[in-house]
Amino acid sequence: MLLLALETSCDDTGAAVFDGPRLLAQATASQTVHEDWGGVVPELASRAHQQAILPTVQRALRLAGKALTDIEAIAYTQGPGLLGALLVGQSFAKGLALGLGVPLVGIDHMKAHVLANFIDEPQPPFPFLCLTVSGGHTQLVVARGPEAMEVIGQTRDDAAGEAFDKCAKMLGLPYPGGPLIDKHAAAGNPEAFAFPIAEMPGLDYSFSGLKTAVRNFAERQGPAFIQQHLADVCASVQATIVKTLLQKLARAAAETGLRHIALAGGVAANKGLRIGLKTLAVQKGWQVYIPELAYCTDNAAMIGMAGYFALQGGRRGTLADKPFVSGEEALV
Ligand code: KG4
Ligand code: ZN
Repeated sequence: MLLLALETSCDDTGAAVFDGPRLLAQATASQTVHEDWGGVVPELASRAHQQAILPTVQRALRLAGKALTDIEAIAYTQGPGLLGALLVGQSFAKGLALGLGVPLVGIDHMKAHVLANFIDEPQPPFPFLCLTVSGGHTQLVVARGPEAMEVIGQTRDDAAGEAFDKCAKMLGLPYPGGPLIDKHAAAGNPEAFAFPIAEMPGLDYSFSGLKTAVRNFAERQGPAFIQQHLADVCASVQATIVKTLLQKLARAAAETGLRHIALAGGVAANKGLRIGLKTLAVQKGWQVYIPELAYCTDNAAMIGMAGYFALQGGRRGTLADKPFVSGEEALV
């Protein structure tokens, strides 16, 4: 079955073409309009999706060597995400499905992040534990099946990616600062400065305390000091976030007894996290799975992978389906 997948939950417009479980091609248009605003502006995101969606779909089809009329099913991101951005993708999917007379299926963006681990080899066997870390979410997920996932831990405030971005902003770096902290950290000493790790109950996370600590530190030291010690500060902030993430991951693995550990979401691109996880895996005897970078940040290939599983399982959407903005809505 030839499947077209669409992703429009935040600030990346994505389209992918699958032949059964096999990805043929994907195209992503990353929005640059938000750079001047220090964060994603929802209204601007919706408009940019509207402009980019048709050319992005056409590009993915061209790369796959397929025509629009070859499409036999459509998968799209139903939520969670920005309402206006989701509506653009969903309306496009509904119109196209109706026009082509093909089935459509709505996909949970967070589950799709986890399922990005199935786009390439090696694929984790179910059940496995996944740490999903993105700009909007930080979740510890037990994946029992493609659609059977349980969130066993999550952030109570900022997501890990948000913590990277906000700390970066306080250090005078442009948005999104996560990749820049990663870049500067490579030349720094992770033990140069001490930042706090929040003590949270169970498997939950909190990053708001770190944000405050970095703001106070930056104000106390002043911009000249930060500039001069940027690599050490970035390395120390990154090490704190990575340590926080891995501590709870290790606890989740111990509590669930799972030894197949996957990573997902945009922060999975972080070199400190990748190296930290691999080192920990050797100590603990875990098998680790990390998707290729292009499948970690928001992309349509992961939506296609989830769409393949959903359709295989017999799930179909309808023209009456509504987008859901938060993960909680997805459950009701
Ligand atoms: O999954 P994603 O593309 O979008 C969301 O669904 O949120 O994740 C984007 C987040 C941003 O916060 C970005 O700063 C962060 O992932 N990120 C990184 C790195 N690359 C992307 N954070 C730290 N180090 C990186 N190399
Ligand atoms: Zn995402």
